Amino acid sequence: MSDPIKIDYTALGSLNLHATLPTRTDDGPKTLVMFAGPDLALGAATKSLLGAEGGELIKRASTAAKFKGKPGQTLDIVAPAGLSASRLLVIGTGAEASGDDSKDVESKPFDLVTLGGTVAGKLGQGAQAVILVDFPRAAGDLAKAAGDLALGLRLRDYKFDLYKTKKKDDAEEETATSAVLAVADVAAARAAAAAVSSVADGILTARSLVNEPANILTPEVFAGRAKELEALGVEVTILDEDAMKALGMGAFLGVSQGSAQPGRIVILRWNGLGSDVPEGHQPIAFVGKGVTFDTGGISIKGAAGMEDMKGDMAGAACVTGLLQALAGRKARVDVIGAIGLVENMPGPDAQRPGDIVTSMSGQTIEIINTDAEGRLVLADVCWYVQDKFKPKFIVDLATLTGAILVALGQEYAGLFSNNDELSERLVAVGKATGEKVWRMPLAPAYDKLIDSKFADVKNSGGRHAGSITAAHFIKRFVNNTPWAHLDIAGMGMSSPANEINQSWGSGWGVRLLNRLVADYYEAR
Ligand code: BES
Ligand code: MN
Ligand code: ZN
Repeated sequence: MSDPIKIDYTALGSLNLHATLPTRTDDGPKTLVMFAGPDLALGAATKSLLGAEGGELIKRASTAAKFKGKPGQTLDIVAPAGLSASRLLVIGTGAEASGDDSKDVESKPFDLVTLGGTVAGKLGQGAQAVILVDFPRAAGDLAKAAGDLALGLRLRDYKFDLYKTKKKDDAEEETATSAVLAVADVAAARAAAAAVSSVADGILTARSLVNEPANILTPEVFAGRAKELEALGVEVTILDEDAMKALGMGAFLGVSQGSAQPGRIVILRWNGLGSDVPEGHQPIAFVGKGVTFDTGGISIKGAAGMEDMKGDMAGAACVTGLLQALAGRKARVDVIGAIGLVENMPGPDAQRPGDIVTSMSGQTIEIINTDAEGRLVLADVCWYVQDKFKPKFIVDLATLTGAILVALGQEYAGLFSNNDELSERLVAVGKATGEKVWRMPLAPAYDKLIDSKFADVKNSGGRHAGSITAAHFIKRFVNNTPWAHLDIAGMGMSSPANEINQSWGSGWGVRLLNRLVADYYEAR
């Protein structure tokens, strides 16, 4: 991986633009980053730092460049002589420089994570920047603003270049970007940033897992990566195929039997409550589909775009990243993460259409299409989790159906649930984080479509309502536990580039679910 961005904090009050700026190495050109609203309104600290002359310069440059301070708009100019920075970067905040994300994302003028992404994108690799965390209007909690900016910087800076042997010739490209955030209260900013930094760690882990090729990231290797979370105090249990056989997980094993790579189920547990658990306490649970490669099996997929199926483990990657985030910030919650890791391959041992397997729940499943493998994996993992842990709820994430891309594209994940409260909470945190979910219907008439002629249930209900019948299949294996299923086939991978993500694997869902935990399930 290229050197990640280095982030530090300094006191806004001690800055002197005419003396040496506090960058990390103090040996290259420096960029001074500041924020401006409409009519070039600057924050009070920024105004006094720049002085009348600096303010006048920005005014003139803005007229020339038609910079209006709209959200995300940038003004990139050479710094005047006498300043210790060589470049001034002005970032538009729009009308309201508020860190308040209670509003609908659509109506929100900007958010600080996105602005951090814009800053990192403009800085480019190797820059040394001092960022004035100071806004033209009330910006809510400024320490939180600094944390959010830092998150945006790190998310935008991430690059997966592990397998590029030829690095850029330009030596400057090789040095890490460094950003010093100038804040009113350094200690408060550091504290706010520490928690957010764990969330960033989790997102970047999820992205890297999704980006890894399937010849490297086999189920066993993935399980090994998940096991590394032990260093953060996460309890890790790995089920191998013998253990699954003993549990009667015929649905999972039917998928796994076609591959030379043995499958694994990894159970992660972060108990941030310690022994401090009340009577009748239940953990919360997240389950992820981790198909490390999906060829379709005997119902083989077409060649076009099949390489994307290395990302069919984005649900499991999210759950792993989420547990890393929660453990990293020592979240006061008892949480289970369960991931089903398996490769779906054709071959002499592969399962066939028409096969009937018995799941751990005892329900028999007729395999109609071996490419509908994700739901088979989730059937046994969800059943196991509800049976063993009796969780308060299960949220599963899966790159489950192409049909959800037809319905929702790459804007919203599909949400399916048997519980209104859990759904409403997911929708709310979706709006707050920008990782949006759209609730889709469940109904008995859809459920009937997966009744089988020969077994209890069949693994495909046909083309109509493909994402809904897939959700109904999982629903039959959660046993009345409050449950939500997120179909993230459009979100986890092959993501359109934006201000905070330039990576193929997006790490989608870590922010969403971290926020769900923080807002509704964390002890205070
Ligand atoms: N992993 C795929 C779904 C998928 C498609 C994810 C495109 C990401 C992008 C899943 O296992 C699958 O193959 N689903 C089938 C189900 C069908 C056979 C009932 C599908 O969507 O076609
Ligand atoms: Mn498939
Ligand atoms: Zn799949």
